[in-house]
Amino acid sequence: MKAKITVNKNNKVGQIDRRIYGSFIEHLGRAVYNGIYEPTHITADDMGFRGDVLELINQLNIPIVRYPGGNFVSGYNWEDGIGDKSKRPHKLDLAWLSIETNEVGIDEFQEWAKRANTDVMMAVNLGTRGPDEARSLIEYCNGRTNTYYANLRRKNGFDEPFGIKLWCLGNEMDGDWQICHKTAEEYGRAATETAKVLKWIDPDIELVACGSSDPNMPTYGEWERTVLDHTYDYIDYLSLHCYYGNKANNTLDFLARAEDMDRFIKNTANICDEIKAKKNSEKTVNLSFDEWNVWYRTKDEEKSMERWQIAPHLLEEKYNFEDALLVGCMLMTLQNNCDRVKIACLAQLVNVIAPIMTENGGKAWKQTIFYPYMYASLYGNGATLKVNIESDAYKSGEGWDIPYLCTSVIDNKDRGEVVVFAVNRSLEENMELQLDLDGFDGYTFKEHIELYCDDLNTVNSKDSEKIHPNNRYVNQAEPIILQKHSWNMLIFCDKKEK
Ligand code: AHR
Repeated sequence: MKAKITVNKNNKVGQIDRRIYGSFIEHLGRAVYNGIYEPTHITADDMGFRGDVLELINQLNIPIVRYPGGNFVSGYNWEDGIGDKSKRPHKLDLAWLSIETNEVGIDEFQEWAKRANTDVMMAVNLGTRGPDEARSLIEYCNGRTNTYYANLRRKNGFDEPFGIKLWCLGNEMDGDWQICHKTAEEYGRAATETAKVLKWIDPDIELVACGSSDPNMPTYGEWERTVLDHTYDYIDYLSLHCYYGNKANNTLDFLARAEDMDRFIKNTANICDEIKAKKNSEKTVNLSFDEWNVWYRTKDEEKSMERWQIAPHLLEEKYNFEDALLVGCMLMTLQNNCDRVKIACLAQLVNVIAPIMTENGGKAWKQTIFYPYMYASLYGNGATLKVNIESDAYKSGEGWDIPYLCTSVIDNKDRGEVVVFAVNRSLEENMELQLDLDGFDGYTFKEHIELYCDDLNTVNSKDSEKIHPNNRYVNQAEPIILQKHSWNMLIFCDKKEK
């Protein structure tokens, strides 16, 4: 099969905001406890953070990490996780039917974030709580005044404010599974009033309001309109969440989900603009895709496990090679929509639907999805170019035409590189790829990194990293071949730069 990519240097989608390569750590299962934090682990540092996990996280160069939830945040009292550890209460976590020991809270997490070279994206509880607790929390985190909560932070050992600049107004408030789920009207009002007090205390922050937790929610669309009607003037981003799966065991259909994500983004951006027009506003509300991933094997696990455990094995999805292909495609979708998606969080980071797994007291290792995420974060920087694709296509379950070639092309001016990410979705045929890079005279083909495995069900484990990148031999005179069902990164380099 043959395919062709045509781009023009001056025809851009937009500049990529690095925050689209964000991730997420929730107090859920073993994400925090025995994930990022395990004081008895041989690699633990002075604060109990696992050094082996930090080492893997640093390889990903993650710009932001959302915290502390997720569904967890809707029942969370942030005050339980600050100050003297010996006095912190054990509490029931109703989101995940577990026990929260509060050994880690914002005091520790903001310190962990520094060690992981990342910024915190903080969520406030708009389930059981509201503006009052949110205003105390932001004063605790960012306050410089001589007032109670800023002083409490100082008393707890932190003279300097944490300086958290990005805040989520609750989590998935449209879902009836959420602790104190709200109607769009109720949430719109609560989010507006919370946004006002947060920005009065710290005008430099940015705020994300909850959009829908899935494009298939029955309230999708109307939820966004109502919430934006209330919040438009006070917020900066609207959130989107989506998880895909392959329950039907249909790989071609599964790999087509990246196009579904694309539609979700474009439709939601249109709704934002509809409200912008209705309000005759100058401001554009952009998008924060702050939960996305493959997740289907371990859904609803908390309902059948033994209740009230501390750090249970929950949502420990084992990712196979096919999942890595879709994660690669979804990253391309985010890059291709960089004009509207400014923030995105791969959900999640460690143990819970995660690229990194750990064994209690043992090893840490990379799941299959680690690599497409790492390469996007390390090399997908600069401006996304508009791509014209010529490729054979197949029909997805819903009758859409899905090109076998999924791609994004990034002009990284700073490094003098054009980076092409590409997945060949064909399960049968290799693809000969032709590239027309208009405006990039003098650029030559420098590197071809590939993820390929014959068996789509292959997984990595603590003892064997079967799915890992291969450097393919580059020969300028030979055609570029994308193997059947493979993920690829092609780098073209400006000769003048090197
Ligand atoms: O990421 C796991 C869960 O998925 C989050 O807690 C919730 O926001 C979503 O439903």
